[in-house]
Amino acid sequence: MKTLVVYASKYGATERYARWLGEETGGKVLELREALRADLTGYDTVAVGGGLYAGGFAAADFLKKRAAELKQVRTALFTVGLSDPEDPANVSHIRSELERAFPAGVLSGIRQFHLRGGMDYGKLGPLHRVMMAMFKKMMEKKERDEGPTAEGRGVLESYGKCVDFTDRSALKPLAAYCRGE
Ligand SMILES: Cc1cc2nc3c(=O)[nH]c(=O)nc-3n(C[C@H](O)[C@H](O)[C@H](O)COP(=O)(O)O)c2cc1C
Repeated sequence: MKTLVVYASKYGATERYARWLGEETGGKVLELREALRADLTGYDTVAVGGGLYAGGFAAADFLKKRAAELKQVRTALFTVGLSDPEDPANVSHIRSELERAFPAGVLSGIRQFHLRGGMDYGKLGPLHRVMMAMFKKMMEKKERDEGPTAEGRGVLESYGKCVDFTDRSALKPLAAYCRGE
């Protein structure tokens, strides 16, 4: 089974998962900009990974622009975010945001996997720093009004810190899917 791994990563967590997946599957790994021009023929599986930023999926462009070709090949999508995918509420939140972000039909037939990344506040760009400060305020208000949520806890407990939840073993189901198992 020949695999292509495509990734879009701003702070490095998605790239780390993409490289691990490349090792697990013996596949080729390409960054998004290169992948947009790549020839997709000859691959059995294409796995597309992206960081989540305010619900947006960093590799969305690839899925949209190559949608017709991706219908001909087994395709997996993997998101990398701070919220814990062990919590089903977080997974359904990510999936509904993805559904809203793509034209109808683009995601049909694409298997979705959700992985946990990290955050180093010292490395955030100015826009992302402001966005996270706003997000923290929103989460604090939500907690006051509705009580704690897993998403809110994740943001508030790691706010201002350097956290890294990347875990190679979390890739196992995705690697098995890519290998056709
Ligand atoms: C501005 C901003 C918004 C974010 N929004 C989300 C989000 O909606 N959901 C989530 O799970 N993680 C969110 N994160 C956390 C990132 O997804 C996490 O840092 C991830 O590791 C980023 O991937 P990368 O390291 O490959 O860039 C956000 C991070 C930033 C800086």
